[in-house]
Amino acid sequence: MNLLILNGPNLNLLGIREPETYGHATLADLEAGLRAAFPEVSLTFFQSNHEGALIDRLHEAHRDGVHGIIFNPGGYTHTSVALRDAIAAITPAVVEVHLSNVHAREAFRHRSLLAPVCTGQICGLGLGGYHLAVSYFVES
Ligand code: DQA
Repeated sequence: MNLLILNGPNLNLLGIREPETYGHATLADLEAGLRAAFPEVSLTFFQSNHEGALIDRLHEAHRDGVHGIIFNPGGYTHTSVALRDAIAAITPAVVEVHLSNVHAREAFRHRSLLAPVCTGQICGLGLGGYHLAVSYFVES
């Protein structure tokens, strides 16, 4: 079982970015927690602030035959037709994850352009959302 954990723009700033919304844990904490919780799963982590780099990584995951992708697309969730098209174009299932409850925030965060082409969406559970997504792939 090999999974790609993909994080989009501004998620490199986790821990210092709006901690009242996103918490104090960093991306390194996320990686350490997932590796400790799922030692039997091969996890690859990638973060980029650039839409094209995220698209390239989705294509690469498809070429590499990864089993699944856990994707927090950050602000691109609400704007990116190109990321939606990339997800629709590839075979691996994608679970969309958000740390915050996007539905309890500004109206522009209520709509995800990506969710309709993802297997599912988890939001509002902080880092726990990534753990649930990995569990989903392990158990399915
Ligand atoms: C986010 C929610 C998005 O609306 C926001 O732009 C982010 C983070 C989250 O994890 O809660 O960058 O994806």
